[in-house]
Amino acid sequence: MKQIPLFKVFMPESVMEPVKATLLSGYVGQGPRVEDFEKALSARLNAPHVLTVNSATSGLQLALRLAGVGAGDEVITTPLTCTATNWPILAQGAIPVWADVDEDSANIDPASIEALITPRTKAIMVVHWGGTPADLQEIWDIARRHGLKIIEDSAHAFGSTYQGAHVGTQSDFGVFSFQAIKHMTTVDGGLVIARQAADCERGRLLRWYGIDREPRRADFRCEDDVVEWGWKFHMNDLAATIGLEQLKYVDATIARHRDNAAFYQHELSGAPGVTLLPVKSDRSSAYWLYTLKVENRAAFMAAMKDRGIATSRVHERNDRHSTVAEYRRPLPRLERLVQTMICIPVGWWVDQEDRRYIVDSIKKGW
Ligand SMILES: Cc1ncc(COP(=O)(O)O)c(C=O)c1O
Repeated sequence: MKQIPLFKVFMPESVMEPVKATLLSGYVGQGPRVEDFEKALSARLNAPHVLTVNSATSGLQLALRLAGVGAGDEVITTPLTCTATNWPILAQGAIPVWADVDEDSANIDPASIEALITPRTKAIMVVHWGGTPADLQEIWDIARRHGLKIIEDSAHAFGSTYQGAHVGTQSDFGVFSFQAIKHMTTVDGGLVIARQAADCERGRLLRWYGIDREPRRADFRCEDDVVEWGWKFHMNDLAATIGLEQLKYVDATIARHRDNAAFYQHELSGAPGVTLLPVKSDRSSAYWLYTLKVENRAAFMAAMKDRGIATSRVHERNDRHSTVAEYRRPLPRLERLVQTMICIPVGWWVDQEDRRYIVDSIKKGW
């Protein structure tokens, strides 16, 4: 029986030539290809201040630090995400304050944010679940009223738009992931977008020990005075070479995800035992995931597995982990959502026959 996976690495044969050229160029660290990749991303996303990094996890920690989040500060965030969203808050010595979610989108619910704000709150972390943009306008309004920074974890959302602009470009910081199974990959890699040029300039130093990589020093091996220590978070030229090639395909990849999602939205509408998640008209989802709610989820997953269709909840709610046990609080909407939510294959590898088979399998019941 054919197996339809939930994720697949997109790697075009055409990367081989530029990869070989970079590998044999005598320079594989952060150099000209990283610069080219940053210019291309800046143009693609219409964002002037961009910094590539070695992962979104690193990028989120960098963004938190640039946002002024440090020891004892609080960050209001969603538990329904990859641990990579929230563990950087812990790494900064800060406290994740769990907001409840919107059951229609699986995103942070703006209605649950304001009551959680205290004098220690520094920032709001937003995740665009599966690529579907969160209610940014409401969150921008709250942040403005209370003087808080916003970080958009856009790891699922390359290609998603909100009010006509790319997600991750209109808040204080936006962070993207180029990890293996994302819409586009550099094997591992990430991107930080800053709204302010000064944040970008500080971030450029903090992603490499606090040292300017383009100095005009007498001894090129010896750094100038390091004023503020930084991490080793930079991207290398090999990853950037792969990224530059992937950028040529990403629009077609996203179009395939969207087309499959539109098919499901149409074909599964009204199917018994299924509730679909709507996307509001002022935004578009790049559908890294296609999430729906199903009755009797365990039986649904078992039936789909028997029919060769991979399904998963993808991310365990972060507040359940022992390492953050002390921060637990009641989250009734999340509690309900995690009983029924499930993701089905939607990506570029799902062809017309596959998606028909998936729809028929769901309509057949479980
Ligand atoms: C929501 C979210 N944020 C952050 C990350 C971390 O990305 P990376 O693997 O590039 O560090 C992921 C990874 O899948 C993710 O799903």
